[in-house]
Amino acid sequence: MLSRQEISGILRNKDKGKARSLFAEADRLRRQYTGDDVHLRGIIEFSNHCRQDCLYCGLRRSNKNLIRYRMPPKEILSVSKSARRADIRTVVLQSGEDPQYNIGEFCGLIGKIKKLDVAVTVCIGECSYADYRRLKEAGADRYLLKFETSDAVLYKKFRPGNTLSRRLECLAWLKKLKFQVGSGIMVGLPGQTFESIAGDILIFEKLGLDMIGIGPFIPHPDTPLAGSKRIDLGTVLKVVAITRMVTGNAHIPATTAVGSIDAVGREKALQAGANVVMPDLTPARYRRYYDIYPGKICVGEDAEECLPCLYRRIQSIGRRVSVTRGDSLKL
Ligand code: 5AD
Ligand code: SF4
Repeated sequence: MLSRQEISGILRNKDKGKARSLFAEADRLRRQYTGDDVHLRGIIEFSNHCRQDCLYCGLRRSNKNLIRYRMPPKEILSVSKSARRADIRTVVLQSGEDPQYNIGEFCGLIGKIKKLDVAVTVCIGECSYADYRRLKEAGADRYLLKFETSDAVLYKKFRPGNTLSRRLECLAWLKKLKFQVGSGIMVGLPGQTFESIAGDILIFEKLGLDMIGIGPFIPHPDTPLAGSKRIDLGTVLKVVAITRMVTGNAHIPATTAVGSIDAVGREKALQAGANVVMPDLTPARYRRYYDIYPGKICVGEDAEECLPCLYRRIQSIGRRVSVTRGDSLKL
């Protein structure tokens, strides 16, 4: 097992040849643990309302330049049906921490989506233990909650009013409730060090996560972090590769954020340890308002255009699209 020092050493090293061997090794391990199938998780960004004020995020409540929307449950169900018809076997229901969300109504929706025989992943932020339990009882299979950074000081600074310990407590609850749990971080936050990222990777392993999402921090013009330095793709890919080496059979998505800083960023991530892609199924008319960071790919498109493009990209690197639910390999 790599030590924190070894990991930060790899991240700091600028040698391109060494980086290429790292990606090749991660790719080999990815094939050994997960095979050549790429799992698709269809994301429905159903509400961009958020009561939080994270300094990095365009959905933060202080961003008054953003038009807010909330999709009606009926429409979320109809998008889920089209996902199933397109052989997408996981639906990710994602939103900001919407103050008006109604847990009872949401659980009813989950029950209906589950009848389509798809896995349901919920990604709506921090909730009470009781609410997480209701989601599980309603049939939700998985939960995504990134801890973003394991540097407690940075965490508090970037997520005012919140603490890392509370975040980790939520993750422990989700585990206890037997969700398949996904988490992850952003790479390149101002003030984040290689040591801190190395610590994040070791925590992925310690938490026994089923899925780990790693994306670059992309400065948003309507946030206090506008004008921050941008991280290079190579560093993000190294974090993906080391995460594969450290966590073995975790599911690792080639994130949309990686695809947004490089035209073939997702393909490169899929060749550096990743085995999952998360196509955006949000109807086109809402998409541009789920404005977490600038330059998000596929914003002008609908799922009908996105999916064929994604299939081509996956096949172009000699991989197959899975038609299974792609449950955790750690169960
Ligand atoms: N750049 C990249 N990713 C971001 N997120 C939020 N803001 C940004 C940004 N500026 C990610 C976080 C969060 C999710 C909603 O989006 O990881 O979990
Ligand atoms: Fe809200 Fe999540 Fe954005 Fe924070 S990162 S402002 S919780 S949507």
